[in-house]
Formats: sequence, structure tokens, C-alpha cells
Amino acid sequence: MLRQRLVLIVVCLLGLLVVAGLAWRANTLGRQPAAAVGGPFQLVDQNGTPTTEKVLKGKWSAVFFGFTYCPDVCPGTLQGLAAATEQLGPKAKDLQIVFISIDPERDTPAQMKAYLSADYVPKSTIGLTGTQAQVDAAAKAYKVYYAKVGTGPGYTMDHSTAIYLMDPKGRFKTVIPYNQPPADIAARIKAAMAG
Ligand code: NI
Repeated sequence: MLRQRLVLIVVCLLGLLVVAGLAWRANTLGRQPAAAVGGPFQLVDQNGTPTTEKVLKGKWSAVFFGFTYCPDVCPGTLQGLAAATEQLGPKAKDLQIVFISIDPERDTPAQMKAYLSADYVPKSTIGLTGTQAQVDAAAKAYKVYYAKVGTGPGYTMDHSTAIYLMDPKGRFKTVIPYNQPPADIAARIKAAMAG
């Protein structure tokens, strides 16, 4: 009888250990993607200035990848972020939009500058491009998918649509899904800023 009880207790303790272990593992794995998004990059901005991940320091950054010839997703994302920025009120100055090209073949710094000169685009917006290798490395760091579609001058690009919100230390904070209303984007950014 005593022996049976002891066995039962040992079995229960082992069970608890397994549950605790699984919980710890799930927690660790759950956190992993957060830490794994972002990292070092070497690109060039729309003024031709070499730029690294240090550009993310000191401000909140809404980072997204795309290309200036994008017919809908990128202009829509940029418009949504611009409208959301206006809704941040005084906090708007704490946010910058960072648009990273995955089409360096066509997106020269000059092309990027022309693209971002539209009236609705906040002046603090940063457009980044680079060599194919630099762009590949940046996209890899941010777990961004993209692929060339078609051939000849009229080719287009398939690409991930998520916006990554990075904190003023350049650390990944949250993902803002594609096509959210500006008010929702602003609410998510405000919530992140509030901690
Ligand atoms: Ni696009």
C-alpha cells in the first residue's frame, strides 16, 4: 500500500515536470519569432547615404518591404501609414516610416526619392535600397518573402505585406497586418508606444 502510494506520487511528480517542461518550451518558442525579426543591415537611403540598422534608433519605426513600381499593396500600405501617422497627434514625431525595396534593379535612390516625394508621405519617411546582396540580407533578417514575376521591363514582384513595428532601440515589437484601417494602425502603434 505504501509502496503503491510512493509510485503514484513519483508518477504525479514526473507528470508535473513534463507539463512544466512543455510550458517552458512553448513559452520559449512563442517568444522566438519576436527576437528573430530584424537585425543588422547595410543599405542606402533615398539621398544616397549609406544607412544601417542604426537608423531605427531613437524613434519608433514602421518597417515594410516592397517596391516603387508596386501597383497596389505598397502605395496602399504607405497611404495607410501616412494617415495613421496623422492620427497619432503629438506622438507622430516619434514615428518614422521605413520602406525597404526588394527591387533594387529598378529602385535606385533617385527613384526612391521621387516615389517618396508625394505630398501625402510624411517628410521623415526613409526609403532604403542597395545592391541585390544587401537587399537579400535585409529581407532575410526580417523574414520577408519576395520573388520576381515575369520577365522584361514590365516584370513585377511578389512580396510579403506585413508592417513591422520596431521600438526606439531597433527591436521588433509587433506586426501590423496588411490593409488595416488607419485608425486601427494608429491604435496599435499608440498601444505599443504606451508599453
Ligand atoms: Ni508592393
